[in-house]
Amino acid sequence: MYIRKFKIANFRSLKEVTIPNLNPITILHGDNDAGKSNVLAALEAIFKNKQSIVTVSTNEGQKPEKRFIGFWRGDIPEFTDNYYRNTDEPIKFEITIRFEGQELTEIINNKYVSDILCHKGGKGDDAIITGKIEKIKFRDAYQKLDKVTINNKSVYEEGEEGNQIYLQAVDKISEHDKYVIFENVLRELNDYFVIVPSRRYIKSEKDLKGEICSLDPNSFKNWLFNLEMDRGSYAIFENIKRVFADTPFNFGEIGFAREHDSMDILIKRGELRLPIERLGTGVQQILFLIANIIQSQARVVGIEELEINLSEKSQNKMLHILSEFIQNKGTRVRQIIITSHSYDYGEKGQVLRWWVENDGTETKIRKWDNDSEAALMETRIAKLMMRLSNEDLKRILLQEMSKPEIKSMLVQIFTIEEIKNILK
Ligand SMILES: Nc1ncnc2c1ncn2[C@@H]1O[C@H](COP(=O)(O)OP(=O)(O)OP(=O)(O)O)[C@@H](O)[C@H]1O
Ligand SMILES: [Mg+2]
Repeated sequence: MYIRKFKIANFRSLKEVTIPNLNPITILHGDNDAGKSNVLAALEAIFKNKQSIVTVSTNEGQKPEKRFIGFWRGDIPEFTDNYYRNTDEPIKFEITIRFEGQELTEIINNKYVSDILCHKGGKGDDAIITGKIEKIKFRDAYQKLDKVTINNKSVYEEGEEGNQIYLQAVDKISEHDKYVIFENVLRELNDYFVIVPSRRYIKSEKDLKGEICSLDPNSFKNWLFNLEMDRGSYAIFENIKRVFADTPFNFGEIGFAREHDSMDILIKRGELRLPIERLGTGVQQILFLIANIIQSQARVVGIEELEINLSEKSQNKMLHILSEFIQNKGTRVRQIIITSHSYDYGEKGQVLRWWVENDGTETKIRKWDNDSEAALMETRIAKLMMRLSNEDLKRILLQEMSKPEIKSMLVQIFTIEEIKNILK
């Protein structure tokens, strides 16, 4: 199951944006400040399991307690600066989830109901969820649904008196059973989307001696070590280890060193055992990404700037691995949405790409075309230029400076001072 279509209004720079089509691997390309991360942030906010204060009976009487109640309705605390131009206009969303094969039939788990709602013959089913996020207090917001349909049949809507109507198209079962089925379907989408942030540099770490820590770049080594030690998560560790050691990466076998109160990841290649730092930042990035995806409980993962520290070759390998993860069902993840400044990830066939730009007031998203290709080509040339030796640069500059389009591009890449320096 994956997000097939996404429409949002009034979230940050996304005044009115539609991505009419998403594939299991989708890349949002665009320059700085275009609004790519805002798309991921919107999805994360919408699908995050909401908390609510409920009153529970205890030995000491009635007490308020925080409970997770599902993503589809509830408070979002500290939701400031998220409305378009701070106008506090409600954020409205419409998301189409495509359930593949028999997925939805299995979740509904009631033949009578799935015969009415689902397509036959494993054709796949679409659920369309519309809702809004509204400001309720100074800093907080409230998310609610307006309507949910499955294959255009209403499974949730508000009646004229504000009453809730579940599974309108289904009769012969009790209102309670209808609600339970509705909730079972929506529960699948709790915490459905997570973001792997662009801040993912692994650092040196103290040995936290088994202390519980989260998957965070600051405690990654300890997290991975604990994963190996813990009986319940050992299989996840083995999976990470295998992907890291197997083709296409062939980086070597993961091990650990705990010395002088420090924790380090060692990579074994034949006779050689090296701290992971020695293999370069790209290898660390790849391990961090692999770990995030394999352990993820979410179905959709947003990756910020996949290209960070990765050569073009590694980017392609990474993309190849990501599509394997999605197809082989080795993880829960069924879709990956990537933001990127990078020009080319290859494998264009199954990868859907969108061009995101900010017109100064709001974000626009359009199909990938020649213009976007040209714009990214420029960034790519800029990167290549950075890698050239000064000798080579000097030669190119002297040859090409007379052409106005090259000149205008060069001054975007280098400052005049830098150009003068090179030409000295
Ligand atoms: N509340 C808001 N209303 C309008 N625009 C906003 C709001 N909050 C942020 N923005 C705009 O969103 C843009 C930043 O968007 P975002 O972080 O998604 O960019 P990006 O495409 O991910 O860029 P980068 O490639 O640099 O990460 C900025 O132009 C900022 O002005
Ligand atoms: Mg960004």
